[in-house]
Amino acid sequence: MKKVVVAICGASGTVYALRLLSALVLQPVHIYLIVSDTGSRLIEMETGIQADGLISWLRQEVHFHEKAVIHPCGVDDFFTPPASGSFLHDGMVIVPCSMKTLASIASGVSDNLVLRCADVCLKERRKLILVPRETPLSLVHLENMTAVSRAGALVLPAMPSFYMKPRTIEDLVDTVCARILDHLQVDHSMGGRWGEEQNV
Ligand SMILES: Cc1cc2nc3c(=O)[nH]c(=O)nc-3n(C[C@H](O)[C@H](O)[C@H](O)COP(=O)(O)O)c2cc1C
Repeated sequence: MKKVVVAICGASGTVYALRLLSALVLQPVHIYLIVSDTGSRLIEMETGIQADGLISWLRQEVHFHEKAVIHPCGVDDFFTPPASGSFLHDGMVIVPCSMKTLASIASGVSDNLVLRCADVCLKERRKLILVPRETPLSLVHLENMTAVSRAGALVLPAMPSFYMKPRTIEDLVDTVCARILDHLQVDHSMGGRWGEEQNV
């Protein structure tokens, strides 16, 4: 079974994380879930869902795959499995990723579990997907993105696309989540694919 690490940080766009989790739990996958303190507050502010009730909310929303398991990990708990390079997993995504978390990863600061896990991904050459959301971008932001890309991370900005004619906010959000799932190599049925019969 696949094992993925999902971190939610304090950038706007927590709905991306919720849609991603809703798709992930439909697959046989272990999800190690980390939510930063500001991430928790933004989930509540942007979606009305209590961050500590996120798993219960997901269970109400979607019918989990019988093998899907969510492992909640405290943001200050360095004793969880993904904090160690000896724990094998299939990739980590930080969605949404704040510029503060991006900057900390770019400079090697690892003083919370999100940062430690990201640092471990880079040192172990594991897949690390960062989904930043900020606008406009300063030179500092751009240089930090360059630095993490050079170190092996994939920068996949929360930039929805329109060519598949999304009708709802969820459709729009899914254009980003589908790309994240593709890079995690997790099956999904989000949106369509350009070139498929119905979209040409
Ligand atoms: C309402 C609100 C919206 C925010 N949106 C963003 C954002 O879109 N992008 C960003 O980089 N930071 C944003 N921030 C700032 C981050 O939350 C802040 O830098 C925080 O330290 C990030 O910490 P974390 O990455 O550990 O969650 C926002 C803060 C608030 C209160």
